[in-house]
Amino acid sequence: MKGKDLLSVNDLSAAEVYRIFALARELKAKQKRGEEHYLLKGKTLGMIFQKASTRTRVSFEAGMWQLGGSALFLSANDLQIGRGEPVKDTARVLSRYLDGIMIRTFSHAEVEELARWADIPVINGLTDYLHPCQALTDIFTAVEHKGTVKGRKLAYIGDGNNMVNALLHTCAKVGMDIAVATPPAYAPDPQVVLEAKAAAAEHGSEVTLVNDPKAAVAEADVLYTDVWASMGQEAEQAVRRKAFAGYCVDEALLKLAKPDAIVMHCLPAHRGEEITDAVMEGPQSAIFDEAENRLHVQKAIMALLMGN
Ligand code: CP
Ligand code: NVA
Repeated sequence: MKGKDLLSVNDLSAAEVYRIFALARELKAKQKRGEEHYLLKGKTLGMIFQKASTRTRVSFEAGMWQLGGSALFLSANDLQIGRGEPVKDTARVLSRYLDGIMIRTFSHAEVEELARWADIPVINGLTDYLHPCQALTDIFTAVEHKGTVKGRKLAYIGDGNNMVNALLHTCAKVGMDIAVATPPAYAPDPQVVLEAKAAAAEHGSEVTLVNDPKAAVAEADVLYTDVWASMGQEAEQAVRRKAFAGYCVDEALLKLAKPDAIVMHCLPAHRGEEITDAVMEGPQSAIFDEAENRLHVQKAIMALLMGN
């Protein structure tokens, strides 16, 4: 995987997904034991942010330090890119200084353009379209909790956004069933659904799209939700609050899943909207394990793409 980009989980093979998981497991164990694991000694990651972040910024930056390298926080507003310098020029210049770029921005096409022109690995830290590092972390976390995910089922309740797009790709790659419940006007991206269905057919799992949350959660091993209004959709908040009434992961909905189902949310959460406080803080919540695992999974990704 050396030198590759990570823009979409759909670009990875199932074997590559499991390679990331295996290294993440190893690096997590080493970090817990306090053992050095300087796989990126002397390397530098540039982190371009056009949107806010807590987890992505801190886990990538801490991860680089733990791997013996360093990370630069680059606010897109302070870079010349914010004043109109072309992405293709920025990509070539940064490639002369850095060993990898992580970018969080609005346009997925911009990230693809950056990757096309950069000579170093580019990692997608979230676009309006996909959030692959989060989805890989989520399925890694599901494997930790459930032992295996093949033949198990994830139910996603809420907005058909970047998060569910990435989960569709990732579940399909590992042969995990995914059922998505959204209001009719907020379904996941049709191209992503096609890609996920093709991968699911290859790996023996199912992709189901419904409107009724209850139908989605039946027999589910993992319940997943995300905010109703993503970054950049703040103006639609009131309209969306109405459209998504009935799509809250609360204790009643959780009861309809398998009794040992776990609950996930990529965070940040809006308690009382897509998830209740009781479910977030309840015994079935794996949400903070999931947040922690961003660190371990991304360290594995960086080591595989940027390592020697
Ligand atoms: N889940 C996630 O990507 O969180 P941040 O927006 O805080 O990075
Ligand atoms: N769908 C959310 C995910 C945040 C990590 C957003 O894009 O804002």
